Amino acid sequence: MKKVLLFSLTVIIVSVLLSSCNQSSKNKEMVKKENFGVHKGKDVFLFTLKNKAGNVLKLTNFGARVTWIEVPDRAGNKENITFGYDTFEGMIKGDPYFGSVVGRYANRIAKGKFTLDGVEYSLPINNGANSLHGGPEGWHSVVWDAEVPSDSDFPTVKFTYKSPDMEAGYPGNMNVEATYTWNDNNEIVINYKCTTDKNTVINITNHAYFNLHGAGNGDILDHQVVINADRFVPVDSGLIPTGELRPVAGTPFDFTKPHTVGERINEKDEQLILGGGYDHTFILNSPRTVDASVYDAVSGRYMEVISDQPGVQFYTGNFLDGTQTGHGGKKYIYRSGLCLETGHYPDSPNQQDFPSTTLKAGETFTSQTIYRFSVK
Ligand code: GAL
Repeated sequence: MKKVLLFSLTVIIVSVLLSSCNQSSKNKEMVKKENFGVHKGKDVFLFTLKNKAGNVLKLTNFGARVTWIEVPDRAGNKENITFGYDTFEGMIKGDPYFGSVVGRYANRIAKGKFTLDGVEYSLPINNGANSLHGGPEGWHSVVWDAEVPSDSDFPTVKFTYKSPDMEAGYPGNMNVEATYTWNDNNEIVINYKCTTDKNTVINITNHAYFNLHGAGNGDILDHQVVINADRFVPVDSGLIPTGELRPVAGTPFDFTKPHTVGERINEKDEQLILGGGYDHTFILNSPRTVDASVYDAVSGRYMEVISDQPGVQFYTGNFLDGTQTGHGGKKYIYRSGLCLETGHYPDSPNQQDFPSTTLKAGETFTSQTIYRFSVK
């Protein structure tokens, strides 16, 4: 009897071990890692993630970027719908933000100054009079560490970076994680986690550009957009918030019902003129629901954005001018890509009435954003 019990126990243990082994090798099999380049002495890799639907997401640890999202159209034709470069050299010379994780503070901080606990901090000025996206050497421009976790059911890559105290002017040693999972529902699930040893500020996002016709295939003016936001954040000529939170009702900023990007973008609206198009944060009505969506009636591709963050920067590629040549030699022309960058509002450290972006020493910041792809 004892022997039988011992035997069954051994069988159970061995099968559990075997299945966990299968599990761990499963994620590794679903993620291919290749050398992509070397930057400042650190290896840069290209990770190719394939989900059960056979769709491909490519990531790199340079800026913890998304560089390729290949999803089918209504007829099943697959095409890459995000901006990026075929080579690391192209990436280094190209636009710094395509697909990157942006931090320590995504978006603008007025005049590159903010005060925390009575101390004034100065940040690099890299956008007119202001500091943009963590300065020129923000997290988009550094090589992150990367691992392929063994305990994931779906293709997953976890990027980590240790941002030293006073890097780009921000206080506190910050450990940051950005984990991408490409699940079988064609969702890119991005989980962020940040900790600090001194009080600091944090606003982290992903800066992917999307064109659902396929990246480099014309503009996005016919894309139908919905943003579940009753208010947005008006800006001044430097794209710094005025402090007002303005209702969208009756303005070209009302995307609570579907509108194409191009329908009202050239109206003589003060905010559209200041932004050169849409380049504004929308205040999400109920984060964690479908906060925004984009539909391309031509291809049938549909993208939904779900986030736990209070806002989303809707940017319509107004600074693109065709000088960037991306994947397959395609040119990224004016308004040929749109971004939906989830996060806090710009310049929050200087705006008392905005939700706080302070992260206290010893506390942990987490957030999640999902980009879900399907067809209609
Ligand atoms: C966006 C920002 C734009 C522009 C762009 C980078 O996040 O809203 O104004 O700076 O990044 O080119």
